Amino acid sequence: MRVTVVGAGYVGLVAACGLANSGHQVTRVEKDPARLSCLREGKVPFREEGLDELLHKAVGMGRLSFAAELTGAPPADITMVAVGTPSLPSGKVDLSQVQEVVAGVAAMVTEPVLLVMKSTVPPGTGAKLQERFLSKARVPIRYVSNPEFLREGRAVYDWYHPDRIVIGADDPTVVEQVKALYADIEAPVIHMDVASAEMTKYAANAFLATKISFINEIAHLCELVGADVLFVANAVGLDPRIGPHFLQAGLGYGGSCFPKDTSGLDFIASMNGHQFNLLKAVIEVNQRQRLEAARKLAAALGGLADKEIAVLGLAFKPGTGDVREAPAIDIIRLLLDEGARVRAYDPAAMEYARRVLPPDVTYTSTALQALDDAHATVVATEWPEFITLDWEAASHHMQPPRVVLDGRNCLPIEKLLACGLVYVGIGRRVQVREY
Ligand code: UDX
Repeated sequence: MRVTVVGAGYVGLVAACGLANSGHQVTRVEKDPARLSCLREGKVPFREEGLDELLHKAVGMGRLSFAAELTGAPPADITMVAVGTPSLPSGKVDLSQVQEVVAGVAAMVTEPVLLVMKSTVPPGTGAKLQERFLSKARVPIRYVSNPEFLREGRAVYDWYHPDRIVIGADDPTVVEQVKALYADIEAPVIHMDVASAEMTKYAANAFLATKISFINEIAHLCELVGADVLFVANAVGLDPRIGPHFLQAGLGYGGSCFPKDTSGLDFIASMNGHQFNLLKAVIEVNQRQRLEAARKLAAALGGLADKEIAVLGLAFKPGTGDVREAPAIDIIRLLLDEGARVRAYDPAAMEYARRVLPPDVTYTSTALQALDDAHATVVATEWPEFITLDWEAASHHMQPPRVVLDGRNCLPIEKLLACGLVYVGIGRRVQVREY
């Protein structure tokens, strides 16, 4: 099939490359001139494991090309929309990019086309887009909600191994066409109406965020009663009704999806007259985890003013350079506000962090350099190089009281204690012994 993919982020590019490698003829619309020239040179403009190879293959087979504008793309059977739907300060979802693309498609198409919505949009959006834009097109445009569940850093793997393919189509005749798009991917296909498909995406992300905030609440309680959240999460997760995933206590969730989608769903609920108190608590707990990190450091150091603090990890999770809504960014701001001095290191995210953090942060080229003279270190992202760091050497770089706040519960506690470091975790039993 001929497919046009509109969208600047990792979802759009993974979809374009994936579909081209599956034998479809794909045009990717990329408005950003810098990214476009990067792609035309055969390079992926951001870090995403396995995507370079997929791009090379797709371009090499002549199945993937690029256009700067929708109007520059050849006619297509399917136009896939994967543009951003960021949060406005109120929590409302900003649909301006989606509306611009859908209006553009409606204005320009001369052949019937199927519009596949990959962007995360509030339930009811598909119906409104159809009424407002698509019904006015010169030729029939049918509409499908086809949410994606790709994780950043694992997006190529997830593209080929989805847990399910959700097809939200009020017109059942289009289902086979969407199935043909994913003919070589093995996964359960679930057909439902458009609004339910739209809701599925929000429900999935909100539930995963709920698991994280739940285990963070349990971690907090563990500290108060002298239990260890790692034992608890491990044992609880063995119940298949609960499952082992997303039970890692830590500094909380960040990234381009969970924060935006939880506040988006909360806003949607309020607009529909429903107080989603559970979700409000999930969001609040997630914010609290960041404050709690600063509080723990202040307690361990006897205040933060004039303290030297190293922050290891700036990305919202390992495997990406993305700092959107990353806990480290908020924590650094809190530390600076309290008068601490911050030295930061991340193997992939420093360039992006520099753009959003105040200029008084010092960036170092290795983790050990960040630890020079540090009273405390926060490990905010569980990059493998921090787990395997030479903690003996680290303790020599630091100055007393040599506190390590393990914000992801990923470090070898016994080794750190043996090196004379003061270990503080999230819901870990050792912390109770220390205080
Ligand atoms: C998420 C969803 O997983 C994906 O299905 C959706 O399409 C987009 O949003 P992503 O944002 O890439 O993907 O990250 P994910 O790996 O899910 O982690 C999100 C955040 O939760 C990270 O900050 C991570 O550190 C945190 N997390 C995750 C925890 O704090 N504890 C956990 O147990 C799991």
